[in-house]
Amino acid sequence: MNWRDYWNQDTPIYTSERHKLLHYRLVANDIIGLILSPDARVLDYGCGEALFADRIAARCGHLYLSDAAPLVRERLQERLGANPKITILAPEALSDIPDASLDLIVVNSLLQYLDLSELRALLRIWHDKLKASGRLVIADVIPQDVSALTDAKALLSFAWTGGFLTGALRGLVRTALSDYRKLRDEIGLSHYGEAEMIEILRDAGFVAERATRNLGHNQARMTFVACPSGAVAESP
Ligand SMILES: C[S@@+](CC[C@H](N)C(=O)[O-])C[C@H]1O[C@@H](n2cnc3c(N)ncnc32)[C@H](O)[C@@H]1O
Repeated sequence: MNWRDYWNQDTPIYTSERHKLLHYRLVANDIIGLILSPDARVLDYGCGEALFADRIAARCGHLYLSDAAPLVRERLQERLGANPKITILAPEALSDIPDASLDLIVVNSLLQYLDLSELRALLRIWHDKLKASGRLVIADVIPQDVSALTDAKALLSFAWTGGFLTGALRGLVRTALSDYRKLRDEIGLSHYGEAEMIEILRDAGFVAERATRNLGHNQARMTFVACPSGAVAESP
């Protein structure tokens, strides 16, 4: 099993329905906060279940949702397929989006599941799809020094304020015994330093900086805001 297969099933990552709901609501509100115009064309890449995508779509011109997992896309299609402001796409179908047409691309909590060559390939596609004035926001990037324990602490703090502490404690035990833990040990998660991430973005033709706040609940992780600079470095 790899990370793509892992996400193509029901997972124990969300420790309860309430956790999932609060997580997706927080992320959706953060995405809405990034939308600068009601006409904006937005791509949420690696969107997962995107439980509040309809709210995001109501605040922009068009919302593209893309996720690698066929099961996730099927569920999105069932829930949101009738919304004329939303298009659900497989990653392979990103070519359907016209070049230089997007105002905002948000990639939340995906980078840890990609290796560097996949990331570089995606950065090139995202660069092509963004308008010159557009922005790429890559969030929930795990720094080098952040461990599973830090993630667990951030989750428990979110659970405490969100009223799902008991479920979160049970969920942490479930996750520790699950395929997620096995894959984390076997394949690992990608971690990046702040300067390293800015350099990778620069190589792909972006000018980037770290945002003061991460999207979502885990402030030990990092968000980067990147704008196309025009110049794209040669492939390594
Ligand atoms: C941790 S979830 C994040 C979901 C959502 N962005 C959020 O903030 O909750 C990671 C998602 O990325 C998707 N994914 C994994 N690898 C991918 C890839 N190479 N391209 C697109 N989506 C991918 C998975 O199917 C999963 O839905």
